[in-house]
Amino acid sequence: MTELTIAIAKGRLQAETLDLLTDAGLRFSSDTLSSRRLAIEDESGRYRLIFVKPADVPVYVEHGIADCGIVGRDVLLESDANLLQPLSLNIGACRIVVAAKKDARLSQLGMLRVATKYPRIAARHFGERGVAVDMIELQGSVELAPVLGLADCIVDLVETGKTLQENGLSVVEVITESAARLVVNRACYQLKAEAVSLFIGLLKDTLRRRASDD
Ligand code: PRP
Repeated sequence: MTELTIAIAKGRLQAETLDLLTDAGLRFSSDTLSSRRLAIEDESGRYRLIFVKPADVPVYVEHGIADCGIVGRDVLLESDANLLQPLSLNIGACRIVVAAKKDARLSQLGMLRVATKYPRIAARHFGERGVAVDMIELQGSVELAPVLGLADCIVDLVETGKTLQENGLSVVEVITESAARLVVNRACYQLKAEAVSLFIGLLKDTLRRRASDD
């Protein structure tokens, strides 16, 4: 019987998350992993993984459809879900930055046009500095906005820096660091205490082993 349902963020974190779970002892057949199924079970049948868009991980976990989730801190900062965050997982390291065209003079602008997939992080950042912004919400390919004149700058995630570089942008300011976190539904943390703490223990042991191998 499935003991824990874990929501996995599809996309950039997915491969590293599955590596981590495999290192932690969960086993998935290669057929299952290469399939397009959005819900799979590990070979023991104790863990069910569901694959969802990163922004939906907090939603599934908050509603208790998934007991736990693995998702970037960037996504959690944009979400108002009330979740426990017992563990940072040392995967998916990246930064959330303000970036602009290399020759941009942002300080000379009155109202700053900011394109982003992270309106909350951006609003908090500029709000704290008293900078007036016109927020332009996009779903992706945010780096195009300053290049094509839609925005003066962007607030976006940077991992390798390649996308910025190849589009002629550079980092103006680092807002915060991000990495993947384990999130747990508050009620499940109590009701499934044994299964949750066993899972957290497996992840902690794996992180410790990985750190000592470095
Ligand atoms: C993210 C982010 C940047 C890029 C940064 O986009 O928004 O565009 O990755 O990665 P890099 O620093 O390694 O180049 P994502 O790949 O999630 O796609 P999206 O533009 O569709 O949101």
